[in-house]
Amino acid sequence: MILSSKQFLWFLCPALAHTATISYTVPASAPNGAAELDPAPVGVSFEFFAFPSYFTNVTATNQCLKNFQTLTGKWPPIRIGGTTQDRATYDASTSAYVVYNVANPTDAPASLTFGSSFMKLAATYSGSVVVGLNRALDNLQNTIAAAKVAKSNMNNLIAIELGNEPEYYSRTNLPVAAHAGSWTPADDAKSQNNWAIQVGQALDTKLIIQAGNSNDSPPKWGAEELIATQNATVKSYIHNYAHHNYPGGTVASLMSHSGISNNLKMFNAEVAATTKKGKEYVLGETNSVSGGGAANVSPTYGAALWTMDYVLRASLTNIKRTYFHHGTVGLCYYCWWGRYSMGAPYFGAYTATAAMAGGSYMSALDTGSTAYAVYIIYDSARKPLRALLYNSDYYSGSGSRSSQNFVLGGLSGATVKAKRLTAASATSRVDQGSSPTFGGQTFADASCNIGGKETFEDKSVASGSATFTVAASEALLVYF
Ligand SMILES: *[C@@H]1O[C@H](CO)[C@@H](O)[C@H](O)[C@H]1NC(C)=O
Ligand SMILES: *[C@@H]1O[C@H](CO)[C@@H](O)[C@H](O)[C@H]1NC(C)=O
Repeated sequence: MILSSKQFLWFLCPALAHTATISYTVPASAPNGAAELDPAPVGVSFEFFAFPSYFTNVTATNQCLKNFQTLTGKWPPIRIGGTTQDRATYDASTSAYVVYNVANPTDAPASLTFGSSFMKLAATYSGSVVVGLNRALDNLQNTIAAAKVAKSNMNNLIAIELGNEPEYYSRTNLPVAAHAGSWTPADDAKSQNNWAIQVGQALDTKLIIQAGNSNDSPPKWGAEELIATQNATVKSYIHNYAHHNYPGGTVASLMSHSGISNNLKMFNAEVAATTKKGKEYVLGETNSVSGGGAANVSPTYGAALWTMDYVLRASLTNIKRTYFHHGTVGLCYYCWWGRYSMGAPYFGAYTATAAMAGGSYMSALDTGSTAYAVYIIYDSARKPLRALLYNSDYYSGSGSRSSQNFVLGGLSGATVKAKRLTAASATSRVDQGSSPTFGGQTFADASCNIGGKETFEDKSVASGSATFTVAASEALLVYF
């Protein structure tokens, strides 16, 4: 290997970490076209069969959700569903939440039943709930019976899904696809539309169905395609459209800001088609890597940075709510918390929630094409509330840590304060003794109680401008 003199210098001086500077002007008010924020854009999805365990037998659940409510004044939205919603049958005679048998406690059941107590448990939650019901087994009357129990018990119910990731039904020859004969997006749309009308009419309720719920990359199996098949009767029962997404990759590729921005571009046309019809678009189930996560990627601080930037960028593209999936208790790499340990991704979700809390609008000052992100969150009067600065350069934990200077102009006052999201490296994990911190604070294993002293950094503003240094794999939330 022949090194240029510049590279040679770098080799000799690893401690001379690289710092570059980028400058932006914070707009005095939210620009035209700024995204309109949901009051609680950061949501949680619970795998259908595991939901009762999370709510009755995982201590951290309530506090982890409450910490978000403390920030925003609203409990985070939840969705109950996933693969096992399409394996579940309502049983009016059982008093149990769920009934199933598995060989190993960390297996997902191949089949299960649930009782009305399942919906009564969901009704106890103080935030909004989307409940996913079965379509795969082609038992419309059973799904209608379950929908009626949900509707009559849950004041917090905002929508019902009819089937989960239907594009995969034909792979395992599930009844609804088998009966249809073929299973193209058009066949599924016909089925979805018919079920939406039948369930909506049985409930005598309009705007009740969360439609779509596919995982394949749109446009195929997407909302735009589905909407084109729907007449006014079908649409009258649709509350909103949803899609699933699991980008995958390595820690470095996952947390890359340009990677995240590119990944989410596939939803632009979907969101446009949905908003044109006056409906909301959500990511109904999402997380870092499909199938419960990747052991060496999903539990890391890098995945926390992905979580943070991903939900901010999704909200920026008018995806109203993003529901991060939580699967089998005890075997869930991407989970934000478990029985015994916090997951690093919770820190990213918490930071994003803190950034958007009380916000009405958001714009980005960056184009999404570099490693550096600048989001501005505005209040209802369109005045800037906060900025979230993100340096997505990957820091492995060895060698010097580079940093990026963000110069923000257009500021008023003499100082601004900021909270930093940081960790020893992008691969830091709570369960390996290396917790991230946000504003110097952490969340306790098993309880999710916030701990440590809340720490703000003060930055002086000179001539309306301040410089913020954000190290590789760090974020800074600036409060105006
Ligand atoms: C709660 O979880 C523990 C640990 O997995 C398990 O042994 C116990 O049976 C669960 N209790 C209930 C009521 O589900
Ligand atoms: C609308 O579409 C549904 C099926 O998707 C069909 O059953 C119904 O007859 C249609 N209604 C009208 C008014 O065309």
